[in-house]
Amino acid sequence: MNVLILGSGGREHAIAWKLNQSNLLNKLFIAPGNAGTAEVGRNLNIQPTDFNEVKQAVISNNISLVIVGPEDPLVLGIHDYFLADEMLKDVMVIGPQKKAAQLEGSKEFAKKFMIKHQIPTAKYKSFTADSLAEGYTFLESLNAPYVLKADGLAAGKGVLILKILQEAKNELKEMLSNQKFGKASAKVVIEEFLDGIELSCFVLTDGINYVNLPNAKDYKRIGEGDTGLNTGGMGAISPVPFASKEFLEKVEKQVIIPTIEGLKKDEIPYQGFIFFGLIMVNNEPKVIEYNCRMGDPETEVVIPRIKSDLLELFIATGEHKLNTKKIEFYKESAATVMLVSGGYPEAYEKGKIIKGIDAIENSIVFQAGTANKNDKIITNGGRVLAVTSYGENFKDALKKSYQNVEKISFEKMNFRKDIGFDL
Ligand code: AMP
Ligand code: GLY
Repeated sequence: MNVLILGSGGREHAIAWKLNQSNLLNKLFIAPGNAGTAEVGRNLNIQPTDFNEVKQAVISNNISLVIVGPEDPLVLGIHDYFLADEMLKDVMVIGPQKKAAQLEGSKEFAKKFMIKHQIPTAKYKSFTADSLAEGYTFLESLNAPYVLKADGLAAGKGVLILKILQEAKNELKEMLSNQKFGKASAKVVIEEFLDGIELSCFVLTDGINYVNLPNAKDYKRIGEGDTGLNTGGMGAISPVPFASKEFLEKVEKQVIIPTIEGLKKDEIPYQGFIFFGLIMVNNEPKVIEYNCRMGDPETEVVIPRIKSDLLELFIATGEHKLNTKKIEFYKESAATVMLVSGGYPEAYEKGKIIKGIDAIENSIVFQAGTANKNDKIITNGGRVLAVTSYGENFKDALKKSYQNVEKISFEKMNFRKDIGFDL
């Protein structure tokens, strides 16, 4: 079978790396991909949100399965586009249709869904510019810190947590009346602050059945000790040591099953990954967010821990036969450390020559913001490489990654030296 992966990050390289090991794979394409994906498949110079270009590529390369890496094309309705097209309707798409992608595309939609299906989450209310005054009153009724969330997609920047009431009011006004996050903040969800430790769980579902994937924890802040600006993620570990069997059973019973059943009851088809962003409060799970795709860099630790043939699982998803499949994992832990461009997540330079990837031993390098130029690999984004290792536990895995990070260099390279510090 010929397969196309849409996206260009470490997540897509990890999926490509895994699919490349499947006996069911014929040709693998990645659009647009990076220098790493070019080593395991053929990159196509196409943007995932350019549906017409994607269509031409699918037809001309005889592709029968498409995996959508990032959220944007899903929220824009790429799966619906395939279903509505005579020539594409039989192509399997891993990634939900537009309606279900609202679980990530609209915070309010996600909150309403959770309340309706009694899935534990923070209390909330949502406001628009017309109800700004009510928003102020609601903020006054809460205790600090205050959590403000732009309803729509805001490239991971749409959540503000403020300690002072007046600042929260000012920011609410900025978001609603002055469009701080553009259209994404035309509506704002204000919610109760939850104090706990975060982790993520993932499933692959065909809308009826699902398989649990390994859980993970990522490190979103740029600075050590979880300080500074939010990034896409600076590292991750899997499995999460504090997620006990008992806790994970609660997650399954209170969160995962009600989500799958809720989608069925609401007649919302879902085919693809569901990412449950959770927070553990007094040993109870609460949902912070849903994503309609895999996480990055979580994928770089989740995928290497899957022993089963991932393409076989994708095909079963497309055929709504996931109930006939069992998923097997490796016992080892995995950890990944992200190497980023100096300055990221603010302005940074591209085009720096990356040295040392060939010297890596006992780790896997998943490439993110990289490109090929004159037979060299150069930086081409904020997050550049994810160095993943296996180990008996996450500390052992991290040690290997950090040893290998020493061998890699590019001008102004930055990384966090304390992944897993809180565990
Ligand atoms: P989200 O985009 O909804 O995942 O929010 C981004 C980050 O904000 C989360 O990863 C949490 O660290 C934090 N956050 C979101 N909602 C809450 C909440 N209700 N209480 C505490 N922290 C939160
Ligand atoms: N690492 C967080 C995310 O992918 O949303």
